Amino acid sequence: MSTVSVVILAAGEGSRMKSSLPKVLHPLAGRPVVGHVVDAVRAAGVENIALVVPQNHDAMRAVFGDDVAYAVQDPPRGTGDAAACGLRALEPADGLVLVLNGDGPCLRPDTIRRMIETQGNADGVFLAVEREDPTGYGRMVRDSDGSLDRIVEEADCDEEQRAVTQVNSGGYLFRAEAMREALAALTPDNAQGEYYLTDTLAVIRSQGGRVELYVHDDAEEVQGINTRAELGRCEEVLRARKIDELMAAGVTVRMPHTVLIDTDVEVGADTTLYPGVTLEAGTRIGAGCTVYPNVRVARSTIGDDVTVLDGTIVEDSTVEAGASLGPYARLRPGASVGPGAKVGNFVEMKNTRLGAGAKASHLTYLGDADVGAGANIGAGTITCNYDGKNKHKTTIGEGAFIGSNTALVAPVRIGDGAYVGAGSTITKDLPDESLGVARGRQIVKTGWAERKNTNKD
Ligand code: UD1
Ligand code: MG
Repeated sequence: MSTVSVVILAAGEGSRMKSSLPKVLHPLAGRPVVGHVVDAVRAAGVENIALVVPQNHDAMRAVFGDDVAYAVQDPPRGTGDAAACGLRALEPADGLVLVLNGDGPCLRPDTIRRMIETQGNADGVFLAVEREDPTGYGRMVRDSDGSLDRIVEEADCDEEQRAVTQVNSGGYLFRAEAMREALAALTPDNAQGEYYLTDTLAVIRSQGGRVELYVHDDAEEVQGINTRAELGRCEEVLRARKIDELMAAGVTVRMPHTVLIDTDVEVGADTTLYPGVTLEAGTRIGAGCTVYPNVRVARSTIGDDVTVLDGTIVEDSTVEAGASLGPYARLRPGASVGPGAKVGNFVEMKNTRLGAGAKASHLTYLGDADVGAGANIGAGTITCNYDGKNKHKTTIGEGAFIGSNTALVAPVRIGDGAYVGAGSTITKDLPDESLGVARGRQIVKTGWAERKNTNKD
């Protein structure tokens, strides 16, 4: 098979998005739109990638680093000009060049592979699809004898052409040589005054070359994004696809249409996801977990057999096997929950390790703390980690017992096996196995209320 390189077009302004962010960088299922195109190309086994970008493309470099070649198109003069920029960056002497719109993120690697198989020495293979509503797409216009003639962009269509429902899907495979020749013959002689890549179809034919259509049967997969409504539709496609994959791999998803899972998320078998769960990019959930309604997990790793109760938020954190979180727990960046540990109702953690089997069951803030295995943190415990300028550390030893409504004023250390009396404000270290009580003493005045009432008049 010939070598295949790819040009991905990502330099357009995307003005129909009405956004200060370039269209192809809008987040979609946990990745910028064009990132999905790059991933599909790689998954299809094509490694030589040129990304056509605008002059100012630092944001693209931040995403793709040195993994792709950047071809700057300045100014954007249409998709034909963009493809020519990409081709110059690749400089393939021969072989095949795949050209993909950067705004078609749902394209599957299999479709790319099949386009390559279809090529069979054609000068150009064009990806097309039937669309009930072809609005916005270039139409595949035929001669009176039914043979393919050219692609006509919506802005250039007459009434009859506008009614054509077979459209161009923005995927092309060329012989490098034929592509170079066809691009050189393009003119911006159209409604938008741009160099249209789509005109290469008519040019190749007029030069006596051979053009093939690869007609795809899944319109959803090849839809492009020009508007926010289309961005939403593509997210729906990728979301449903991801959930189908997970279900096929043994994950139960209840009310799947309410669950949002980014493309790169991993979930183990026999885990159940309840309605309204959001799992964001960079997340791995183990096997046998139960994730209850309205939980959001981002960039975090959760081990096997973990229960995450309703309304819990987990960001940039690690949770080990058998732990339990929530309801309404909040794990902020750097929380690390040990095996079998419990982070209960309305508990917030930040940059804190909770050791194996330790428990913070209710209404607690643990910030910049290290909690030893088996410790018990009573309801309403607060680590006072911030003095207005700096953050300080709280260390709680293994098996320690912190009574309810305790303030631990950091930096402070509670020794292994030590006890803190409820309602204490602890400012000094407690040695191992000691008891610390730091609260006002209770006064009891018997008969006081009776005397108060008698003296009233
Ligand atoms: C394009 C096709 C249309 C097809 C549709 C499929 C052309 C002329 N039309 O229309 O036939 O039905 O895609 O989705 O190609 N870009 C550049 N530089 C430019 C202009 C565009 O890099 O100067 C990039 C864009 O960033 C985008 C892609 O090319 O990723 C397609 O451009 P867009 O403006 O979205 O074209 P459509 O109007 O959607
Ligand atoms: Mg488009």
